[in-house]
Amino acid sequence: METTNAPAVSGRQLVTGPTPTLLELQGIRKVFYTDEVETHALSDVHLAVKKGEWLAIVGPSGSGKTTLLAILGLLDTPTAGTFLLDSKPVQDLSPADRAHVRNKHIGFIFQSFNLIGDLTVFENVELPLTYRGMAPSERKKRVEQALERVGMSHRARHMPGQLSGGQQQRVAVARAVAGDPLILLADEPTGNLDSKNGQAVMKLLRELHQSGSTLIMVTHDPAYARLASRTVTLFDGRIVDESSSPGGEGQTLLPSA
Ligand SMILES: Nc1ncnc2c1ncn2[C@@H]1O[C@H](COP(=O)(O)OP(=O)(O)OP(=O)(O)O)[C@@H](O)[C@H]1O
Ligand SMILES: [Mg+2]
Repeated sequence: METTNAPAVSGRQLVTGPTPTLLELQGIRKVFYTDEVETHALSDVHLAVKKGEWLAIVGPSGSGKTTLLAILGLLDTPTAGTFLLDSKPVQDLSPADRAHVRNKHIGFIFQSFNLIGDLTVFENVELPLTYRGMAPSERKKRVEQALERVGMSHRARHMPGQLSGGQQQRVAVARAVAGDPLILLADEPTGNLDSKNGQAVMKLLRELHQSGSTLIMVTHDPAYARLASRTVTLFDGRIVDESSSPGGEGQTLLPSA
């Protein structure tokens, strides 16, 4: 059963039109205040992402990529500006409502996997569904499907420490998709992986995109950014460039196996 105090964000069945705008940032600003120092991490960011898009975010270290992803994922709030998620403003939600929207609609994949070390693979993927109040039988079905999808069913009873980095990241992808989120956010998902495992994870992300997921990915790797349908470049907290990939999801950049 879902929690009852659902905030003002509709489920995906209410999204209409062929390519609706799923999220939109208008004039977003983020200032961090520490010891009398102001850091302007994001300044006047305008960004719209359509359902089914694969957006890459690139830019030098400190340019605001993780800050932007944290705002998009409702992990942090902007200092100013409007954030529309599925046409509903979410920048002023209470922390509890924000957590609810985040848990229901957003899937996260982090550079450092962020699996819980003393839970099994199965339990790690199941945990966000438990937080959501989902019935055990439904949870089991979803976890099994998600692990199947990333090719990790045979490791369901393993602990994260018994897996390779690439396998841990595949489990993290399973955790992110098990709840069928509106949006998948990935912050340098290949950053801690060697190139072979990095390519395997990118192949998985490409498959998710091809099956309809909306994906926003921070990457330092230009070859991976070209797989996305669109790339925005941040510099000093501002979007300074935006480009569409000529070939869309550059199919040839990844090996087929
Ligand atoms: N919690 C915080 N408190 C104070 N300043 C912060 C905080 N988080 C980020 N910043 C600052 O905001 C700016 C943007 O940081 P952010 O982590 O978004 O950069 P990034 O583009 O993700 O960099 P990287 O490629 O190194 O991961 C930096 O100057 C950073 O020092
Ligand atoms: Mg970062």
